[in-house]
This record gives sequence, structure tokens and C-alpha cells, in this order.
Amino acid sequence: MPEIGFSSCPSLETRGLGKSVEVRLASKLYGNFVALKDVSLVVNPGEFLTLLGPSGSGKTTTMMAIAGFTDLSSGAILIDETRIDHLPPNRRNIGVVFQHLALFPHMSVADNVAFPLRMRGGREEEVRVRVQRVLELVELPTFGERLPSQLSGGQQQRVAFARAVVFDPPVLLLDEPLGALDRKLRESMQAELKRLQRQLGITTIMITHDQEEALKISDRIAVMSSGQLEQIGSPEELYQHPATPFVADFIGDSNHIVGTVSTVAEDTCTIVTAGAIKCTGKKRHWHDANVATLVLRPERVLVGREVGDVANRFNGVIESVTYAGDSIKYVVRISREDTLVASTRNVEHQPRLGVGESTVVGWRADDAIVFTAANTIGNYGN
Ligand SMILES: Nc1ncnc2c1ncn2[C@@H]1O[C@H](COP(=O)(O)OP(=O)(O)O)[C@@H](O)[C@H]1O
Ligand SMILES: [Mg+2]
Repeated sequence: MPEIGFSSCPSLETRGLGKSVEVRLASKLYGNFVALKDVSLVVNPGEFLTLLGPSGSGKTTTMMAIAGFTDLSSGAILIDETRIDHLPPNRRNIGVVFQHLALFPHMSVADNVAFPLRMRGGREEEVRVRVQRVLELVELPTFGERLPSQLSGGQQQRVAFARAVVFDPPVLLLDEPLGALDRKLRESMQAELKRLQRQLGITTIMITHDQEEALKISDRIAVMSSGQLEQIGSPEELYQHPATPFVADFIGDSNHIVGTVSTVAEDTCTIVTAGAIKCTGKKRHWHDANVATLVLRPERVLVGREVGDVANRFNGVIESVTYAGDSIKYVVRISREDTLVASTRNVEHQPRLGVGESTVVGWRADDAIVFTAANTIGNYGN
């Protein structure tokens, strides 16, 4: 892995810096506790991959292993197909923005950004040129003399980013970089981050527990749960074709209907719920089982006149109505035991249903996925 020489001072605007990153069968034990189990993934050069999962699912452990701040119990880390897991962090040439930014409070912005260059023995005049260039890149060209405490949250974020990329690393790791920002700023910083990443062409791995952020910003998303990789794919693949109920639940909203298996056809399965509701969906990762879970997106639930001649059609009563601006969310009771959440587009000509009103609800078999019990909530991933 050639180090980038400071004397040549290549332009930060160069595209195509990125190198591939591979995590191969990574496991991490803390005593008896399994923090990571056989995690394997490959990030392509220049790709923006997000690690998404609930708190404690192993995201930071994975990132720290890539950066070199955590030793794996077993497995390997490769950059450009070369193993780097024996190298100390400062020899891996990876830019890192930690979960809590950790700007040096007593150092100016310029000195913060210069820090990785000085650590690497950069010559002072080149350091200054580079620092200025990267501050321009993050649109803070005149902020060099300020202290971090004299910056807004978003500006501090930009400085942390500048410090992480100032030495032209081919790989950038970001641990919940926007976690501390309010919603509006967070959204503008997401766009900003994506722009900078594209411009530099750096292979980027970002951690978030915010599925909306992951969907917006990523080329691909790796969903983690309990130290394991549940699924990796494009935002659309994960949303349209979740491999497990966990992924279906974590990415977007979904109804989860549990029942006993009644009929198994070539492509579909019909289950019967405790409330004697018979419902059908497409089979996914099927193996014989008595119990299965049907997963259905709220926006695929048809309500009232929308319900045509579909495989799943039930009489129901509106139990609650939530106004969400561009959509209306109904909870519809379809048996003593079963309710469905339906999300309909809020368009003016459509009559609004009220609490207590009777209606018809349904869905096409193709719009629901049935997972066998081994994949159901509480038991997935084992
Ligand atoms: N140094 C440690 N000692 C013991 N357990 C740890 C240590 N670091 C992390 N863990 C545990 O490993 C699991 C994964 O942690 P982490 O990777 O930080 O999760 P995430 O970033 O997804 O929230 C958690 O249950 C956490 O408590
Ligand atoms: Mg974490």
C-alpha cells in the first residue's frame, strides 16, 4: 500500500482515491460474550456503505476492528486485497471520525486539521497548503484560527471530516457522525457528506442506527443484529426484499402477523392466525414449519374502495387514525386478535375514514412475505 507522499501534495479534489475494504469472517469475544460472529463483507472502491443496526449490534466493534483500535478474536481485515490486521492504526492509512468527534478543544481549527499531517511528519509549508485546501473543501476557509468551542455543531462536524480526510486516506470510517445534530442540520449535513465523499471518491463506511439516514445516503447498507450480519444490499433491495423479519422491521415499517401454516403452494403460503384470519403471502427462505410470520408493508395494505379482487380481503373496523402530513395511518381491527396498520396517501379527493367506521381491507399475495418460524422476531439470526 503506497503511502501518499506529502511532497507531491496531490489535489484533494482527485476522484478515485478509494480502495476496497474486506472484513472476512470477523469474530470478537469479550470473555464469553460474543460481540461479533463471523461477519463478512466487501466494500467496493469508492462505495458508501452504511452499517445499520440497533445499539449493541456490533457496529462500532466492526469499525474499530477495521481502524485497528480493536483486535479481532478471529478473522481478517483486508484493504485492496492485502491483509492489514497486523498493522497499528496509524499505519493503516484510514481516516476516522469517532462517535464523539473528539476535536482537541484547546487547539485551533487549523491545528486540529493539521494534526494527522504533523503526526506523519509533514513539512510545515505543505501542511499549511493542505489544511487550507481541505478547509475550503468543507466550506470553512476563514475559520482556521477559531477554537472548536467557537463553532456550531455542523461546523464542528465539518472540521472533524476535514481532519479525517486531510491526508488523502483511501478509506474513511464514520461512527454516527451526525448523531448529535438536530434534524434540519442533520439532513443538510447528510447531503454535504455525500457530496464530499463523491468528490473525493473515498471508500466510506458509516455507522448509523437511523434507517432513514441509511436509506438516503448509502450505496449499500449492511444490517447488523446481535453481532451478526443480517443482510447486505442496496436500500431498495433491503426495503423490497428483506431477507429476515428483522430487516423488514428495521428498514421501514411493517405488519408482522404470526400464524400456523395451513397451505403451502409453490410460491405462496397461507397461515391462520390466533384470530382465525387466513392470510397469504410469498414464501421466503422457506423450510417446513408449523408456525410462520407474514410481513406486510403498511403502504401495501389496501383500504375501502381500493380493495379489489385480492387474495386477502377482510372486513374491519377503524381503531385509530393518525395524520402524518403526506399520508394517513389507520389501525384496522380485523379480528379479536388481529389488527393491521395501513398507510394511505393523503390525497384530497379520497374520503377520510373515522374511528369506529367499518371498512374493507386487503392485500395482494405478492405484496406480503411469509417467513418460517426460524426467521421470526426473537429467534432470528441464530
Ligand atoms: N470493551 C468491551 N468489553 C465488553 N463488552 C463490550 C466492549 N465493547 C463493546 N462491548 C459489547 O459488544 C456489543 C457490541 O458493541 P458495539 O459494537 O459498540 O455496538 P454498536 O456500535 O452497534 O452499538 C455490545 O453489547 C457491547 O456492550
Ligand atoms: Mg456504536
